[in-house]
Amino acid sequence: MAMQVSVFGLGNLGFPTALALSARGCIVSGVDIDAERVERINAGENLLPHEKGLQELLQKSVSEKSFSATIDAESAVRNAAIHVIVTPVLFTDNNADVSTVEAVARTISKGLKQGDLVIIESSMPPGGTRRLVPLLEESGLKAGKDFFLAFCPERAYSGSVVSDVLTRFPKIVSGLNKESAERAKAFYGRVCAKGVVLADSLEEAECLKLFEGVYRDVNVALANELSRAASELGVDYWHLREIERKGTEGYVDLHKPGPGVGGHCIPIYPKLLLTVLKGDYKLFPLARELNDAQPQQVVELVKRHASSGKACVLGLAFRGNVREHRNSPALAVIAGLEHAGFEAWCYDPYYGADEIERIAGCRGGTLDECARGAKVIVVVAGHDEYKRIDWAELGAKMANRVVVDCRNIVGGLPDGFLLVRLGAAAPLRCSST
Ligand SMILES: NC(=O)c1ccc[n+]([C@@H]2O[C@H](COP(=O)([O-])OP(=O)(O)OC[C@H]3O[C@@H](n4cnc5c(N)ncnc54)[C@H](O)[C@@H]3O)[C@@H](O)[C@H]2O)c1
Repeated sequence: MAMQVSVFGLGNLGFPTALALSARGCIVSGVDIDAERVERINAGENLLPHEKGLQELLQKSVSEKSFSATIDAESAVRNAAIHVIVTPVLFTDNNADVSTVEAVARTISKGLKQGDLVIIESSMPPGGTRRLVPLLEESGLKAGKDFFLAFCPERAYSGSVVSDVLTRFPKIVSGLNKESAERAKAFYGRVCAKGVVLADSLEEAECLKLFEGVYRDVNVALANELSRAASELGVDYWHLREIERKGTEGYVDLHKPGPGVGGHCIPIYPKLLLTVLKGDYKLFPLARELNDAQPQQVVELVKRHASSGKACVLGLAFRGNVREHRNSPALAVIAGLEHAGFEAWCYDPYYGADEIERIAGCRGGTLDECARGAKVIVVVAGHDEYKRIDWAELGAKMANRVVVDCRNIVGGLPDGFLLVRLGAAAPLRCSST
């Protein structure tokens, strides 16, 4: 018989996760507090057009009635035996803010039944899942005996969530007790082609998720510094990285430098960790500081090669091929350019000009409009579309043909361009002679 599942939080991760579960034969009721979002989803609108495979899955799931969205949380809980929470955990006023997860736990407690399984997929501060027990026990049921509690972190990336969940990664599973973990293992064993990996405790799995983010943050900070060192020494960091990766089988994983770290995961995971630590930790708080300062490094680079005037920023999103701008370094780059006296314009194929104006407070427009009369183009997000730019045509519209490439995606510039690449041995004056 099909498993009845409720999924709480139909955002960037929860929506594709809910559909991925429906693709594995679950009957999924997706719950969100945003009524408009729910209505649009039920009308068949794909709210995440950048998510690969989501459109087809949405159409199939809605027509087969294996997925529907609702704001009626209590009915969703009553009708399901497995409840998955994917609402955001934030960092507010220097504290982990798990209020959305707690609110959902309270809601679930109102309809919790004997034998139900509650799974937290939101990235929690260590100890956070265990602290939900009293809220869920408001149901009158005993955790680990009458109902079961597991923490199984989302390890998917925006843009490829469906395939990440279904086929790319094994699921990390942890439980309040052995039976909780076994039940979660049985559930994800049916969903994830790569199977499941059991963690010893809820806290171990919570730490694993945060440590992965901290590792990325520290390594991006390191890559940014090493790429600056490479430039100072007249060495191309990107080429060095390419040859280093040949045959080292993961011994070293030199990360890519960039304009900073965005999204609402990696920038907040070190902070979530620090909320529960009492010891003296220097490296990952410093990496956070360095990554926060990286957009200003980009602004300084632009200032070295362009005089004030119009600056065209390519990319509002925090990384390539996604529509997600939370903590995007583009916001700080744009603000920094304006502060330095540039008139910033931004083009991002995933956002309308009006959205860019509202979100970033600078002018938005088409690529042509943004580039016309620009003294410099700054490539901040690595969208594939930017790799197909006809630079000869665009260059004819610019006032000065200077490109600052923070993602190493600009190639084939015609004569007359100055290419300033983060991590390059030196700026490149393009000339065929
Ligand atoms: N975005 C990523 O790439 C990513 C990757 C890995 C893990 N995660 C983790 O997944 C979790 C969710 O992240 P996201 O990016 O999907 O967040 P999001 O902000 O995109 O979406 C959250 C959704 O939850 C809904 N919501 C809020 N409170 C609710 C409630 N009480 N009941 C029902 N719905 C509610 C919101 O309306 C929204 O639609 C976070 O803990 C995050 O750390 C995210």
